[in-house]
Amino acid sequence: MPSVRDAIDRLIEAHGPDAICAALEPMLTPERIARIDAVLAARLTSVVTVVEDTYDPHNAAATIRTTEAFGLGELHAIEPNQRFAAAKGVTRGSHKWVDIHRWKRAEDAVGALHTRGFKVYATLPGAPFSIENVDVSTPIAIAFGNEHSGLTPEAVQACDGAVGVPMFGFSESFNLSVTVALAMSRVAARRRAQIGAPGDLPEAERRRLRARWFALKIRGAEGVLERAFPVS
Ligand SMILES: C[S@@+](CC[C@H](N)C(=O)[O-])C[C@H]1O[C@@H](n2cnc3c(N)ncnc32)[C@H](O)[C@@H]1O
Repeated sequence: MPSVRDAIDRLIEAHGPDAICAALEPMLTPERIARIDAVLAARLTSVVTVVEDTYDPHNAAATIRTTEAFGLGELHAIEPNQRFAAAKGVTRGSHKWVDIHRWKRAEDAVGALHTRGFKVYATLPGAPFSIENVDVSTPIAIAFGNEHSGLTPEAVQACDGAVGVPMFGFSESFNLSVTVALAMSRVAARRRAQIGAPGDLPEAERRRLRARWFALKIRGAEGVLERAFPVS
C-alpha cells in the first residue's frame, strides 16, 4: 500500500520542492521551520547504518531511532531470513525521517553502497582492528549482525574489512542496539570532524527533504497540497 510519504514525494516530484514549501510554510511556526533547517544542516549522508537479519523488533526500532538521532538519514536492512520490523512506540516517530532500504542479499546491499563510493565495514566481536581507527576519509557504512549468530559469512566476505568495538570485561559481545549506538556515535563524530561540517546534504536533496519534512510535520498535509495543486 502506498504510504503518505510516497504520496508527498509524488507531489514534490510533480510541483517542485520550493512550491511545496511555499504552500505549507503558513501552517508552520517560525520555530518549527528553524528546527527543520537546523536538522537538515546536520544531516550526514556519508555515514550509513546497515543491519542484517535483525530478529528483535525492539532492537530494530532502537537502531532506527539511534541512526536518526545521530543525524544519519539512511538505514539498510539485509533480510536473508528475518524481516526487519520495528516495534511501534519504540521508534518514537524517528522512522519518518529515515529512509530504509531493504535487501535480500548482503552482496547486493554492499555492492550498491560500493557503487556510491562507500567503504563498508563488518562489526565482529573480538575483531582486533578497532572502530576507533577505521578510515573515515570516504563515505562509510557499518554493518551489524543478528542478535544470536552475528553477520553471515556472505556479509563479512562482501565488506571491505572487519572492526571491533573494544571490550574489557568478561562479556563476549554487546547487545546489538548498544553496539549500533557506540559505533555510529564514534564514526559519525569522526566523519563530521573529517569533513569539517555537521552535515553534507547536497543542495538539491536538502530542498527535496525540506519539502517532505514540512509536509510530514503537518497533519493532513496531503489534502492541503491536493487543494493547493488541483489536478486539472
Ligand atoms: C549480540 S552480537 C552477536 C554475537 C554473535 N555471537 C557474534 O559472534 O557475532 C550482535 C551484533 O552486535 C555487534 N557487536 C556486538 N558486540 C560487538 C563488539 N564488541 N565489536 C563489534 N561488534 C559487536 C555485531 O554486529 C554483532 O553481530
